[in-house]
Amino acid sequence: MERIDKIISNELNIARNDAKAIIKSGAVSVNGIPVKSSSQKIDAENDTVIVNGREIKFREFVYIMMNKPEGVISSTDGRKTSEKTVIDILPQDMKRKNLFPAGRLDKNTTGFMLITDDGGFAHRILSPRSHVPKTYIAQLDKPFDNDMINAFGSGLKIGNDECMPAKLEAVDGDYKTARVVINQGMYHQIKRMFKSFGIEVVQLKRIKIGGLYLDSKLASGECRFIDENELKMIVSD
Ligand code: URA
Repeated sequence: MERIDKIISNELNIARNDAKAIIKSGAVSVNGIPVKSSSQKIDAENDTVIVNGREIKFREFVYIMMNKPEGVISSTDGRKTSEKTVIDILPQDMKRKNLFPAGRLDKNTTGFMLITDDGGFAHRILSPRSHVPKTYIAQLDKPFDNDMINAFGSGLKIGNDECMPAKLEAVDGDYKTARVVINQGMYHQIKRMFKSFGIEVVQLKRIKIGGLYLDSKLASGECRFIDENELKMIVSD
């Protein structure tokens, strides 16, 4: 059981005092009965809460798919560097407390960014031990060759880092557009893997996490919620 003002403030992403003001105005009902006190406790999962005629669906956690644009950083707080973060560019009605990007994409990498407030789930998809593959399309300045396919597949050593076996395949006939599947998320991993063969990644886009593709209907910078079935697709590939 939780206080009604806390639930409304969380779900609508508004300040606690604003939630209290809405309750005071008489705009909130629980199971059809108007709420008089902000301290009323409710069972968020089973009670029906209406605010201004709209039902508030309580979700313990949310999962958001963003088509990350270039130029924003995968962090929760860009104040130190005065840069825009993926959290800053979420639409106002999707914002709520404790959201963070599950994993990192470089500032100039685009594509599937998962944003959630579920730390357990994030850990599960990020841990190399869980083997949730991440699939990228990389545009290269020079073609790669079959030796590199084998080298990626056997696990590259880059500097002091040992990469887990990765899948490399050509998307086009001239071997300058690659599909790369990795199971880890080491710093600049894909760029460094190609760099170790003298190849620059000129563009990088993540198109899939686990078995779930980035929704092609999402324009750059747009996002939408991920549903239960899609969530399962992320961890079952
Ligand atoms: N590998 C990279 O080099 N950069 C990313 O953003 C993701 C994977």
